[in-house]
Amino acid sequence: MSQIEQLETEILAAIGKVDDLAALEQIRVLALGKKGSVSALMKGLGQLPPDERKSFGQQVNGVKQALNKALGDKKTALADKALAQRLATETADISLPVRIGPLAQGRIHPISQCMDEINEIFADMGFAIAEGPDIEDDFHNFTALNIPADHPARQEQDTFYFPKRADGSRLVLRTHTSPVQIRTMQAQKPPIRIIAPGRVYRCDSDQTHTPMFHQVEGLVIDSETHMGHLKWVLEEFLKAFFEVDEVQMRFRANHFPFTEPSMEVDIRYERSGNEVRIGTGDQWMEILGCGMVHPNVLKAVGYDPEQLQGFAFGVGIDRLSMLKYGMPDLRDFFAADLKWLRHYGFGVLDVPTLAGGLGA
Ligand code: DAH
Repeated sequence: MSQIEQLETEILAAIGKVDDLAALEQIRVLALGKKGSVSALMKGLGQLPPDERKSFGQQVNGVKQALNKALGDKKTALADKALAQRLATETADISLPVRIGPLAQGRIHPISQCMDEINEIFADMGFAIAEGPDIEDDFHNFTALNIPADHPARQEQDTFYFPKRADGSRLVLRTHTSPVQIRTMQAQKPPIRIIAPGRVYRCDSDQTHTPMFHQVEGLVIDSETHMGHLKWVLEEFLKAFFEVDEVQMRFRANHFPFTEPSMEVDIRYERSGNEVRIGTGDQWMEILGCGMVHPNVLKAVGYDPEQLQGFAFGVGIDRLSMLKYGMPDLRDFFAADLKWLRHYGFGVLDVPTLAGGLGA
């Protein structure tokens, strides 16, 4: 047996015996790798007399092919065997409960949950969700909303101002979500039906005020809209949000620069022990501001108040969620306290739907 044949026999025998993929790969490298035994044979080619080189070369290539085939076959066989073993041993009991992992431990913040609930309720009534920037200019946050430069409402709102720009103007952290009304009317043609949930900022902090909080703005613009529509929308919203059959409301005259007439809405509630029941009862609680969009606001975005009219409302989301889920202090919402979040937070998969229950 020639040296080459002997080498081939040895390697084939080793391939035959090997039992796992890693060992098989090792054999391949030792034989056919750059420094492998078969590759080394080729290096001797130069020393052979010229008439022997061709047949020697062919012989070595033949060995290479045979080894490659044997390696490939063995690899397939080993992989098949491994798969068969896995299939025989791995079974899944699909009746087992889901294991508690990091995903199941995460919590959705009650504010996010309430925003999802609010979006779901209004989407069902045909409202789209609109957004605007947290950093606003004077025009959108104030002027276009019928709050001119000398208006007292500018002081009332405890605005966070940015430093003056070269032209003397100052950007602000938006003090309410109402500027999204303006941006939406500038960008879209009526009819308009939107809500705009988001963060707002005022320089204020105590048990029921934080410098950053959340509002949802509502705006409907059409050729014929009236306070009956406004009342119905608010009533349906409050009933759905608090998941009760009845919410008795009271519209109280008030003043907002951007609406005329303007109203605050109170709803009935009742306290029994630590529980607050919303909707009926002997007490009134103020819950939101609303009104018919002021003609000056329509003019500011280039609408004709003779042709178009509408209503708007603004609700504090943080307070809604305190009322619904019973947290006593607003500041805890933003303290990033894991214990609080575990208690008041929602499961990742508790997505609120009208059909499945909002506060699931
Ligand atoms: N922007 C008001 C605020 O921040 C809330 C508000 C009241 C919004 C009446 C409205 C509205 O759209 O009509 O206090």
